[in-house]
Amino acid sequence: MSSTRNTEPKAINVTIDGKSCSAIFGQTILEIARENDIYIPTMCYLTKTLPIASCRMCIVDVEGVDGAILSCQEKATDGAVINTNNDELFKERQNIMKLYNVNHPLECGVCDKSGECDLQNKTMEFAVSKQSFTAKEPARPVQNWGVISYDPALCIMCEKCVRVSTEITGDEALKVKFGGYNSTIENVKQDANYKTLGEAAAVCPVGALVDSRFKYTANAWELTQIPSTCPHCGAGHDVIYEMKNGEIYRVSNTAEFSTMCSASRYGFDIANKNVKKDETAFKSALKAFESAKTILFSNEISNEEALILQKLKETKGYKLVSHEARAFQKFMASYGSITGKLLYSGSLETLSQSKAVIVMGTRVNDDAPLVKYHINMASKWHRARVAYMHPIEDSELKNIVTQFIKYEAGSEEGVVALLADTLLKDIELPENVRAVLNDLDIGNLSAESNVGEEELEALRKSLLKKSGFSLVVGSDLYAHPRAENIAKILALLEQYAGFNVICVPPAGNGMGISQICDLDDTIEGSTVGYNVKGDFTLSALGDGDLDMPSFTQQEGTLTSMSKRVTTMNVVLEYGGYVLNDLANELGLKADYTIQYTKYLPKAKGFKAVEFDDLTDYFDAKGNEHRGYVLDELDVATAISIEDVAEMNAFDGTVIYNCNPQEHFSALTAKSENLTKDAFLLGSQQFATAAKLTDGDTICYTINSVKFKRVFKIDTSLKGTIALNPTFDMGLSTALLSSYRFSKVDLERVGS
Ligand code: SF4
Ligand code: SF4
Ligand code: FES
Repeated sequence: MSSTRNTEPKAINVTIDGKSCSAIFGQTILEIARENDIYIPTMCYLTKTLPIASCRMCIVDVEGVDGAILSCQEKATDGAVINTNNDELFKERQNIMKLYNVNHPLECGVCDKSGECDLQNKTMEFAVSKQSFTAKEPARPVQNWGVISYDPALCIMCEKCVRVSTEITGDEALKVKFGGYNSTIENVKQDANYKTLGEAAAVCPVGALVDSRFKYTANAWELTQIPSTCPHCGAGHDVIYEMKNGEIYRVSNTAEFSTMCSASRYGFDIANKNVKKDETAFKSALKAFESAKTILFSNEISNEEALILQKLKETKGYKLVSHEARAFQKFMASYGSITGKLLYSGSLETLSQSKAVIVMGTRVNDDAPLVKYHINMASKWHRARVAYMHPIEDSELKNIVTQFIKYEAGSEEGVVALLADTLLKDIELPENVRAVLNDLDIGNLSAESNVGEEELEALRKSLLKKSGFSLVVGSDLYAHPRAENIAKILALLEQYAGFNVICVPPAGNGMGISQICDLDDTIEGSTVGYNVKGDFTLSALGDGDLDMPSFTQQEGTLTSMSKRVTTMNVVLEYGGYVLNDLANELGLKADYTIQYTKYLPKAKGFKAVEFDDLTDYFDAKGNEHRGYVLDELDVATAISIEDVAEMNAFDGTVIYNCNPQEHFSALTAKSENLTKDAFLLGSQQFATAAKLTDGDTICYTINSVKFKRVFKIDTSLKGTIALNPTFDMGLSTALLSSYRFSKVDLERVGS
């Protein structure tokens, strides 16, 4: 096994339209042209996917080569002389546009795409002023596919949507139905009703695929665009709020380069509306702060708010408790004690470039859809081998997972030890690390975890011929009773086997909070809660004692799982008090919350940059210039790995706390645009074992939190562990500090 970090790119030089262009061997002519600000028209090209090569608009002449060639897929050779435009190329492109316009119903006046339509623009650009040909038009009705609708009459068959569905989101719902002139796109998974289809519509260059919710509500030119960062899952990708009359009409993104999850595309209705300055409540809040010993908060706060809370801790002595972020913080501290780095090595970018990926301790498709997308990209672009290790199989991953390794809930420490022992077998290690691995009782660990040695050996062998590995781990591990030893063992794979590791932070701004705040483990005395129920509660959800702005109503920064600090901007009005107002009364001093941006802790990799100086764009090549990436910092090392502890058996009725795909928190639960159903989901096998039938109402208690849920059989699930969503638990986060698997007693209270 070896890392790909050291491959030297070979430099080449080409001449395009007389301009000398430096490039790297392997780049296409189109990529080089775009890097050098040379325009080549395209219709089917989508930067974030492999070349589609269906439109022929990108044809160029290369000296010494017969015939025009497709610049989007042709790799440039050193010394090539390329011409991107002449009368002949113009005529060819004009003819292509004429063909696109055969029978295209010029409905621009009522079409959703008008004003931002590639066909409309290029029809003008290539001076196609009339429809020269016609063909017999078959009846092709508009089809509704949940969040999007498809009008085959407007479709130019560029296949961008199919590529996004296949290469990016991985729902694999959209396919080409070939039929010559009658070819169409079909949704082969209509029953699944994927919300990820919104990502396919986002790249459609014409009005064929449109957002069902947005359709016929506004013209593109009426919308004001406000760029920001998605606050939901922690991937921190760009979002553009499109506004009219002070309301969000739709959410888009720089779809050429980046992709969103369904929560960000549709879960934008999270504002704390109609809030005015409530002086009485403000005074009560100040009193509550004066008597409180602990500030308890969720991940739904900005970096700057986290810094305000940290400063209040330093000046007033509060305990700061944020359960999920604390678990992650402790995990990373243990992890760093082995690697000598403050944070893990990987990012979403390194993940998508991997040749092999191991996922463990996260139901990744639900916990972090953007991580799943990037694993899917690695699978489609590099035929990456993907090993998914979890107690519950996930049918949504079946198209990308090459090996599913099922382990028993509770056995994670043993499993990571087995994994490290197998993958570090032939690698030179410090004596004390080798001694820990040599001391493992492999037979016992294997029996307890139910992971066969041969499964891991098969995994090791499959990696032998590969390079560029990623390891993705998640929340199942952070709140595990043995989390710190698990972190240290996993860190060996980054340190000694060259894995790019992503420890998926808790959703929201778990990464930022864990870096900025000196968090405490336990609550003391009375509490002020922020987006969490406290003795006095500040809430952006509209149900606290003093209102706070939601993420769409405040300026600030967030820190992503790729360690990037990016900006959030004010999208909707907010008339109430903000945390900074309280902080000023409590002795801090800042006119605006964003005055804290440049004071985010340098000791944790933040940079001393003013909020207004943070950039927010992608360049023509797709490089991200959004905010900055945290500096990589060294920390002290101390190799002190403990022996693997006895495992707790999770037999009987076992439940796994895991939200459905578009939900992460009480904030997404607030959205009316997202599905709100919060069922306990189990397989038929679970139903039989627990003596439940579909539709039963049941009660159970996890960590003192009482649930009353309707049980539903999910035929896509296998095994005897049911999925329990927690996003609808309002301001209660008590559950989030506990291991995600629980043994429970179910009481049927209705059917
Ligand atoms: S897809 Fe474009 S060209 Fe066709 S009707 Fe709509 S706006 Fe006009
Ligand atoms: S629906 Fe849109 S993206 Fe898909 S093939 Fe047709 S025109 Fe292209
Ligand atoms: S952009 Fe090259 S064929 Fe479409």
